[in-house]
Amino acid sequence: MDPTQFDREKLAAVIGKYQDKKWALIPLLQDVQEVFGFIPPESIEPIADALQMFPSEVQGVVTFYSGFSLKPKGRQVLKVCRGTACHVKGSRTILRMIKKDLGLEEGETSEDYQFTLETVACLGACFLAPTMMVNRDYYGKLNPTKVGAVLGEYRKEDKEA
Ligand code: FES
Repeated sequence: MDPTQFDREKLAAVIGKYQDKKWALIPLLQDVQEVFGFIPPESIEPIADALQMFPSEVQGVVTFYSGFSLKPKGRQVLKVCRGTACHVKGSRTILRMIKKDLGLEEGETSEDYQFTLETVACLGACFLAPTMMVNRDYYGKLNPTKVGAVLGEYRKEDKEA
């Protein structure tokens, strides 16, 4: 499915659970992001209406929390750690290799929406340095061979899906 295609019915189903519950803005936004993979800009107004808020209030919350994204992301979101522990263990080389392999810079998403590349300050798994996450899975003690194998595996899975 093209993630840029906005499905109003899907949104209405999510919003329906939270109608008039102003306190529920964050859980509602989390659900919307879970369903669409991001917060479609077209959803801001219907969400505000349902919770009796101003669209600017909803927009403010979405832009304040870095966990929310207004842009579609890839089916696999890579978070490469660039914290100190990982840096000492060679995360720069790992990141360079991933950028070259995917043809992406930090913050970019591939045209086919398979991969999004991000970097983070610490993944909380420093003992596994250098580390990265793909969606919710951790990969540690990375080296170029391991990274190549992980990316290859995701490419294969994506083709088979
Ligand atoms: S510095 Fe990389 S996981 Fe903590």
